[in-house]
Parts: sequence; structure tokens; C-alpha cells
Amino acid sequence: MKITLSAIKADIGSIGGHIIPSDDLLMEVEDYIDKAVGDLIFDYFIGNIGDDITILLSHELGSNSEKIHRLAWDAFLAGTEIAKEQGLYGAGQDLLSDSFSGNICGLGPGIAEITFDERENESFLLIAADKTEPGAFNLPLYLGFADPMYNSGLILAPAIGKGFSFTVIDVSHTEGDRVIELVTPEEVYDLVALLRDNGRFVVESIHTRTTGAHTVACSTTRLRNIAGKYVGKDDPIMLIRTQKDFPATGEIIAPYEIGHIVAGFMRGSHTGPLMPVRAGSGISFFDGPPSVSCLAFCVHNGILTEPSDLFDHPYWDWVRNNICVKTHEIRRQGFSGAAMLPYSDLEYGGITVRMEQLENKFKIRGR
Ligand code: F6R
Ligand code: MG
Ligand code: MG
Repeated sequence: MKITLSAIKADIGSIGGHIIPSDDLLMEVEDYIDKAVGDLIFDYFIGNIGDDITILLSHELGSNSEKIHRLAWDAFLAGTEIAKEQGLYGAGQDLLSDSFSGNICGLGPGIAEITFDERENESFLLIAADKTEPGAFNLPLYLGFADPMYNSGLILAPAIGKGFSFTVIDVSHTEGDRVIELVTPEEVYDLVALLRDNGRFVVESIHTRTTGAHTVACSTTRLRNIAGKYVGKDDPIMLIRTQKDFPATGEIIAPYEIGHIVAGFMRGSHTGPLMPVRAGSGISFFDGPPSVSCLAFCVHNGILTEPSDLFDHPYWDWVRNNICVKTHEIRRQGFSGAAMLPYSDLEYGGITVRMEQLENKFKIRGR
């Protein structure tokens, strides 16, 4: 049976700043989506990471379905009304358009979709991050799909050993989608040359080289490009089909123990390690840390199991403690050097005004 999984996320308001949606807000989005079960969709899951609400839908209308995108958009609109009623901070902030125009891409919410023939045992992951950008997934995807240090299947499982095809998008290119396809292992150095630049080149999808099956879909939205100004970070969402001819679930999540340093954190203008957290966690220290959650599901005839929260395990408590130390170390240097993003990536314009004012005060000293 052919089904589509659509994962859509948006920040439409949260408690106490950019922290966590209220229960009533989550409930409203859930109630709205629930009405579509048996009609537009087979099943759904509603959750959150930090201030972002994630909607997961299973259906048979294919990727880029206007009806499905409208359903998610309308659910976010309904939620926004509750957010306004409750006085939540940033109510409706990611809904950047006044009207729905047929496709949710480019309107603010992030979206990742995969359409496939359901396997008998179809397992997949819903990975979502807050206070960072889509390029934060570059390193864990590379390590999980192309590096035998993390993916033992590359040497142990023949189908996986054939490698993968990565589609990478240049998110700084605003006139249309500028994309490139690179295969591993042959083009691994070219791939890495792009993926080192998380702010510009982002993994959009990954397919197997054996059958061309779609295994990864990532949101690559750039809110800044859509709104023309800072309206919040482009907190990403991603779907990954796992097991058999795809990497094992444990191989995919192993790289998250690194706590690699990503862009985001306070005011979307700093750097900090990406911390794996329990799904539904809020945001705290220094409007962060940049956080990632991972829920594992199985789906059969379009019906989802309950999720298993992969970062809710004692191993990840140890990882989190280590990442706290790394976070503390980078935060100790405040605004200095590598702790803050370069000018081009600062999400607030205030410093530009300040620099312009200082410009007039500079004098060229005679020699
Ligand atoms: C970062 C983020 C927060 C806000 C900060 C200030 O992505 O959402 O760190 O930038 O809380 O928010 P405003 O400007 O809304 O007061
Ligand atoms: Mg936000
Ligand atoms: Mg967010």
C-alpha cells in the first residue's frame, strides 16, 4: 500500500517567551486534526519540541497535497486563535502569509514528506529540533549514512554498503531551488565540502542506491528568506525510514551523542552544542540549549503505533550531562569570537545600527 507521511512544524505561540506551547494550544491543534481521521488522513500524531508544534500525518494523497497542506495550515490557524486568547508569546509567529495558496512550503511552517510503498514492518523516525537551523542535521546525517564509524551496516549489510544518494540544497539561493545530487562513497569528499557549511548547504533528502527508495526528508525552510527579515529560527523537522535496506535506528541516532556545535541558541545569534532531549521538552538555559528530539514509530496500513521516545533513556542522561559541560564552556565566553555567529548570520539587526553609528566616530590616524 502506498502511503505518505507528512511532518509539519510551526511555532504559533508559547508560554513565557519562546519556551513551550500551552496544553490548550496543543489540544486545539489535535482536535482540529482529529476531525480529518477517516476522511483526509489515516492517522496523526501531535507533539512539540521547545516552542514548535509538530504535526505528523499519514495519508494516501501523496507529497505536496494541497488538501493535506491546507489541513495543517488550518489547524495552525485554529491554534493561533487559542494562542491569542491565552496571550501566548509570538501567537501565530511562523504563519507568515495571510492566506493559504495551495502549498504550505514558503508560507512559514517547516515540512518534510515521504511517499512510499509501505513495507510489512515499516519503522521510521520523526526528528525535530528547536533553536537551531536545518543544517544542524548535516553532520548526523552524514555520519549515520556515510561513515562506517557510526553506520556499521555500510560494511556489514550488502544493500547498505552500496551507499546513498544525497540531495543537497543551497538555502542562500532565493530564486528557485538550487540543488545538487552526490553519491556516497564515491563523492564523499565533495559532499563533506558542502555539508561543512550548515548555514548554506542543507541535506534535503537521501535515497538508497539499490532501489532509489526515499529514506530521509528534511525541512529546508528559511524563514528569513520568506519574510525578508528575522522572524525566528528555522527550526527543522525530518523523517527517516529505518532498518533493513536503510540504516538501523540506533545507527541514525548514534551521532547525536557528539553534541556538535550548531547555530541558534539565544536570539538565533549564537553557537552551542545540540542537546538530545525528551520529546515535549521545553526550552530553558539561555533560550536553549539548541535541542533535538527523536520519536520512533511503526506504521501499518497507514495506522501509527504510539511513539517510542529514543532520547528518554539513561544513556542519553549521561550524554546530556556531557553536553551541559560543553555548553557551559562556550557560554563562558559570552559574545566573544566563536560563541556568537558572524555578522551575516546574526538574526537581530540592532548591531548593524550600532555599527553604523560607530562608523562616524572612527578617525584615520596620521602616520
Ligand atoms: C531564538 C528565540 C529567542 C528569542 C529571544 C528574544 O530563536 O526564539 O531566543 O530570540 O527570546 O525574543 P523577542 O525578540 O521576541 O523578545
Ligand atoms: Mg520560536
Ligand atoms: Mg522554535
